Amino acid sequence: MSTTAGPRATTGGARTVTRLVPSTRSREGGGFIVRRPFPTPVLDHLDPFLLLDEMGPVDYAAGEAKGAPDHPHRGFETVTYLLEGEMEHRDSAGHAGRLRPGDVQWMTAGAGVVHSEMPSSAILERGGRVHGFQLWVNLPRHEKMTAPRYQDTPSERIPVVDTGEGARVKIVAGHAMGARAVIDTRTPIVYLHATVLPGARLTVPVPATYNAFAFVFGGEGTFGPVDQPARDGHMVVFAHDGDAVSLATPAGAGQPLEALIVGGEPLREPVVRYGPFVMNSEQELVQAFEDYRSGRMGRIAGSALAGD
Ligand code: CO
Repeated sequence: MSTTAGPRATTGGARTVTRLVPSTRSREGGGFIVRRPFPTPVLDHLDPFLLLDEMGPVDYAAGEAKGAPDHPHRGFETVTYLLEGEMEHRDSAGHAGRLRPGDVQWMTAGAGVVHSEMPSSAILERGGRVHGFQLWVNLPRHEKMTAPRYQDTPSERIPVVDTGEGARVKIVAGHAMGARAVIDTRTPIVYLHATVLPGARLTVPVPATYNAFAFVFGGEGTFGPVDQPARDGHMVVFAHDGDAVSLATPAGAGQPLEALIVGGEPLREPVVRYGPFVMNSEQELVQAFEDYRSGRMGRIAGSALAGD
């Protein structure tokens, strides 16, 4: 693992691909279907990332939209990036927010929140399309019991860089190509949404020490210095042998490649997880359940008692 590997290939120190992970389909919350590259039986997590779900795209008829009613989180962060539709969020501390296409909510659950994440009332009543992502980012031991924090970030505040050579990058976290995200992260992270037109290539810096992956959610592409192919639904995991991630779309592709590029400095701490709680020990996990059942994470006003 080195950040100073001799002469660079023409791709600019592009990391090789170590594995391709297919995503599974699963049913979450109130019954919405997600496409999930991890956690699955083949990959539990990629430190510091604990879960990635692609919600939809799904077209709901009137009265059919599904969400995730009241549920708790402790010990990590949930990052929701909405591409289409509208979502409403409410939590036990009285915080409420609405996400529109392109918006991001970076929620540091810390010591605990009980929240609901639902399609907006307009989508519930009239139907509509919903498409987005949720990424879970682990917190280091000393931040797990921090006070909850929200960074609700409208699309207009999220920088987008056009390379001028057929690629566009939206910078949700970290920095790339001279632009820096407005969202702060507790540990060093990069989170990008890349769109690469047929025949174009994109190379973005991602420090060699970061664990890094790409998730393809539209079209097809090739990754790394030897152009390994991957298609819609694949997670591409990169080695630590370079300080950039390179992706390209074949000239004959019928549509642009759409991919998330995500990297972060690993925490290298024990991950003890069950459902919505991710701690460092079994004892802390038991405590999280007790705190939730006894209402110490709060409950949403007007909701039935949480727990049991
Ligand atoms: Co949640």
